[in-house]
Amino acid sequence: MSDNTDTKLDARAFRNALGLFATGVAIISAEVDGNRIGATVSSFNSVSLDPPLVLFSIARNAYGLPLWKAARALAISVLGEHQIELSNRFARAAGSKWDGLAERRAGNGSPLPPDILIHLECRPYATYDGGDHEIFVCEVTGYTIHHPGALPLLFFSGRYKRLAHDDGPRAPDDNLWLHGW
Ligand SMILES: Cc1cc2nc3c(=O)[nH]c(=O)nc-3n(C[C@H](O)[C@H](O)[C@H](O)COP(=O)(O)O)c2cc1C
Repeated sequence: MSDNTDTKLDARAFRNALGLFATGVAIISAEVDGNRIGATVSSFNSVSLDPPLVLFSIARNAYGLPLWKAARALAISVLGEHQIELSNRFARAAGSKWDGLAERRAGNGSPLPPDILIHLECRPYATYDGGDHEIFVCEVTGYTIHHPGALPLLFFSGRYKRLAHDDGPRAPDDNLWLHGW
């Protein structure tokens, strides 16, 4: 056991602790003033069914932050378990993340990475101060599931992971909560 409740938070240890919360991996993408932008995020999450809202957060020192703030439409794509290379490509700062990828667009005009599990089409809803990150809440205007039943790429403790191919039991009260499905 490691108990850090009485000490000032050490950034590395705090990060390691938060890394124990497993997530999927998504790529956010948009075109702003003729420039295609994209970034890998693990901060994507569902928020609200009515209205349909999702969120992600972007580091204040991210090259793309001013462009994400200016975007009037964007896409959020969930990556499949085979897409580690694509995740790494969109996690490189700035540069030509889209070079060599086939041109593909969501219904709202946002560029899309290849071979994704699902994409959401979004428009900005609200932004919030998130300390060294900015929190973006987006309204979902449409979505497409490209590969029903395909398995997602996971991120846990600073490493990519894959789902074990055996199902666990259902979570309780799955009619009540958006965050249990
Ligand atoms: C698995 C994974 C998850 C990430 N999640 C986030 C995130 O939620 N927010 C963020 O700001 N950066 C995240 N990053 C880092 C960004 O992808 C990276 O900083 C990228 O360079 C940002 O693009 P930009 O600098 O061109 O704006 C993540 C990277 C990886 C590999």
